[in-house]
Amino acid sequence: MNTTGNRNAAKHKILFVCLGNICRSPAAEGIFRRMVERRGLAERFFIDSAGTYGGHAGELPDSRMRAAASRRGYELTHRSRPLTEEDFRRFDMIIVMDDPNYERASRTAPDMESIDKLHRITDFARKHVWDHIPDPYYEGAEGFELVLDLLEDCLDGLLESLTGK
Ligand code: 4NP
Repeated sequence: MNTTGNRNAAKHKILFVCLGNICRSPAAEGIFRRMVERRGLAERFFIDSAGTYGGHAGELPDSRMRAAASRRGYELTHRSRPLTEEDFRRFDMIIVMDDPNYERASRTAPDMESIDKLHRITDFARKHVWDHIPDPYYEGAEGFELVLDLLEDCLDGLLESLTGK
């Protein structure tokens, strides 16, 4: 508890964003939540995900994504929801998976200042040189494994940049 009595005030509020919010961003949310829990940092983070396309709202993550994530020990229980203008007020960082979704998210931002909250997840990569997380939706099983490999690398880098750990 901090001096204001608001436990939320000191938290890093992080929102991951892709197109449908059923593959990449819920995976990023689940992996990052697991990472902060393992390091005993869960109380310092508020983590969520959203999509720039609302057509899958209410759905669980894609079953192929859930299966691939589960094999690595990540449970994905998020329900898809669309990105909103309010998200730009509630979150400190809005982290997108690729350039098309950077553009789509920036059109939802309420003002220019909010656009400073947008980040590309691949800017936090340490091992991989991809400049986006490829959309696995129309791909085979290997597409989902690649997404998880890239996300694990980028999210390690994100956590280190926020905590020094
Ligand atoms: P995501 O993948 O953006 O990683 O959740 C997609 C999910 C759904 C569609 C496209 C990409 N779709 O066209 O419905």
